[in-house]
Amino acid sequence: MLTLAIETSCDETAAAVVRDGQEVLGSVISSQVAIHAEYGGVVPEIASRKHLEAVVPAITESLFQASVTLDDIQGVVATRGPGLVGALLVGLSTAKGIAYVRKLPFVGVHHIEGHLFAGFLEKPVPFPFLALVVSGGHTHLYRVDGIGRYRQLGQTLDDAAGEAFDKTATLLGLGYPGGMVIDRLAREGNPKRYQLPRPLLHDGSCNFSFSGLKTAVATIVRREGDQVKEGQPLQDLCASFQAAVTEVLVAKTSAAIAQEGVNRLVVAGGVACNSGLRAGMAVLSEREGLELSIPAPLLCSDNAAMIAVPGNFYLEQGITDDLTLDAVATWPLATVTALRYP
Ligand code: KG4
Ligand code: ZN
Repeated sequence: MLTLAIETSCDETAAAVVRDGQEVLGSVISSQVAIHAEYGGVVPEIASRKHLEAVVPAITESLFQASVTLDDIQGVVATRGPGLVGALLVGLSTAKGIAYVRKLPFVGVHHIEGHLFAGFLEKPVPFPFLALVVSGGHTHLYRVDGIGRYRQLGQTLDDAAGEAFDKTATLLGLGYPGGMVIDRLAREGNPKRYQLPRPLLHDGSCNFSFSGLKTAVATIVRREGDQVKEGQPLQDLCASFQAAVTEVLVAKTSAAIAQEGVNRLVVAGGVACNSGLRAGMAVLSEREGLELSIPAPLLCSDNAAMIAVPGNFYLEQGITDDLTLDAVATWPLATVTALRYP
């Protein structure tokens, strides 16, 4: 089955052509990052307008890369939510329009379902597995028993991990989005130089809290002045911050693994690009004898090919959505199970 997938939940306009939910024949990611950077964050109205300009060219280019036309497409899938509702509407409406005109089956996919199965485009992971999703909007632990079968084990109580990276980068004058910049600076830094908290490390839950970390960094900046925003002190502060985030993410994941008694681990979402986190999860997996799957960085950050994995699965099961389906800004992943398997 040849599926056309569209993803416009935030600031990337993405389209992909995927065969059988496995083989990426064409994938286009048109990023708006440079446009939003000047505002220090994503401006929803600008995002919607840019998606509108970019969505048709992205689809055309993905079909061209795949050497196919719309005549060859057998199903259409798009991100339904969660995300910026105006942004989501562009991709979702485009997908529904194509499905209507071409009389094709259509399904709306949860954005996090895409992240969970992005690694399946490299190598499928047998069920059940434990998944840590870390992105700009999510820091969640799930038990995954199949596509559409999710149980939430924990989540952040305030900022998401990516949000913590981005806010910390902003207050260090590193621009937006800053996760990748902190990662790069941290490589040359001493993670022990600054003492930062490990929030909720020993509370016995699978929940996270990252807003205090950003405040702790702000306190250091106030105490030490602007000299901490350059050279070795900056690299050390980035390394110390990254080590704190990584330690908490690894410890909570380890506790969830023990609680669920599973031995397979998937780490997904934009923050899964982080070299410190990847190394920390590799050490944990080695120590606990886990099968670890972290997709290549290009599959960790937002893309449309990942949406095609669960999308294609649903279409093959005959699970489709009506063309009246609306975009949703908030949508807990665990509710997908009742929706797909009533
Ligand atoms: O999954 P994603 O592309 O979009 C959302 O669904 O949110 O994640 C974007 C987030 C941003 O917060 C960005 O700063 C962060 O992922 N990120 C990183 C790295 N690369 C991207 N954070 C830490 N280290 C990185 N290397
Ligand atoms: Zn995402």
